[in-house]
Amino acid sequence: MALRLNRRVAAIKPSATMAAEARAIELRLQGVDIISLAAGEPDFDTPERIKNAARRALEAGMTKYTPTSGTRQIKEAIQSKLKSENNLEYDLTEIVASAGGKQAAANVIGTLFDEGDEVIIPTPAWVSYSAMVALSGATPKLAATREEDGFLLSAEGLRRALTPKTRGIIINSPSNPTGAVYDADQLRALSEVVLEAGLWLISDDVYEHMVYDGVAPHPIAANPRLKEQGIIVNSLSKTYAMTGWRIGFAAGPRELMNAMARLQGQNSGNPSSISQAAAVEALTGPKDELVTMMEEFRARRSFVVERVRSLPGFALAQMPKGSFYVFPKVSALFGLKWKGGVLQSGDDVADLLLSEARVALVGGIDFGFPEYVRISYANSMANLKAAFDRIESALRALGAR
Ligand SMILES: Cc1ncc(COP(=O)(O)O)c(C=O)c1O
Repeated sequence: MALRLNRRVAAIKPSATMAAEARAIELRLQGVDIISLAAGEPDFDTPERIKNAARRALEAGMTKYTPTSGTRQIKEAIQSKLKSENNLEYDLTEIVASAGGKQAAANVIGTLFDEGDEVIIPTPAWVSYSAMVALSGATPKLAATREEDGFLLSAEGLRRALTPKTRGIIINSPSNPTGAVYDADQLRALSEVVLEAGLWLISDDVYEHMVYDGVAPHPIAANPRLKEQGIIVNSLSKTYAMTGWRIGFAAGPRELMNAMARLQGQNSGNPSSISQAAAVEALTGPKDELVTMMEEFRARRSFVVERVRSLPGFALAQMPKGSFYVFPKVSALFGLKWKGGVLQSGDDVADLLLSEARVALVGGIDFGFPEYVRISYANSMANLKAAFDRIESALRALGAR
């Protein structure tokens, strides 16, 4: 029978980051020694205290459905996290726990937007926002930032992207893929435009703790008037090295959260009961492991930035302020001959390096910036050293200078 897919699903591409990681895993299975700098996940193990909470939950028989939007315990833990870490007050009815930040974001976007709406996504941006917006029926409106502005969208830039159809904007600070972090003044300036234009502001905070100088100010805390039109999307994946556990959450106006919970209730239900119990321990316990993880990331960031800047054909103007990625420009390599063709995009450079250096990274096309590549330093220092040695040799062998 001819397969006729839903037209919105038919139009979505696989996630570029997941595809790059999948290629690396596939090659590894074939026995190729690949170093992956493609994955967006901490290479650290989930802290033992969190695993123990999951073990206790299993022993206690917490193996049943929970309320769709999460147990009372996880909502209370999220509520006190939002208060103590972000200085934001939410009622339990304004919080929904989901299977990862990805589900939280997709459900918020799917609940809020519809055909005829435009949603502004400052780019470079995480690859999934556009797909999520398109799946909702709305149109992603990519607002390109400039490297010389630190990859940050200004209030002016936001004004320029507005049309009568604009209904929302997604802010991700610290950013995947650039590591850019907005300061409080920049957020206040943006928020004035958001308020004037009557937009929804979705703040994706998944890298909030991965900042290297001070803290990343929260857009809603920077301008509390935004609370009625602001939605928080967050996740435990990065902060607590819990990518596989699938726990994220959203917080926002009650009516919207109720609608989001209805959507979640019909299409997937509650996030895993065991993971929720583990998440309560993650959110309420000590933060020592995070401090250790960030010390390691800080050392890796310095190493990676130095190595990237010394690679032929790679350019990185600014030190990333947050997350665990660097996003260098590689257009100086374009035109070099490889495999009977010429390099024309960051994705070609990623293909070249996978093949010739056995290092996986992600090309910039799906982040909206084809002249760039994303390198994740969520990998051990030993692997990073080996990866950059290999990249350098492969580039020199190709004649890059
Ligand atoms: C910017 C951003 N938001 C959300 C997510 C979702 O993370 P998860 O679904 O693992 O919680 C990711 C994961 O890579 C991300 O980079």
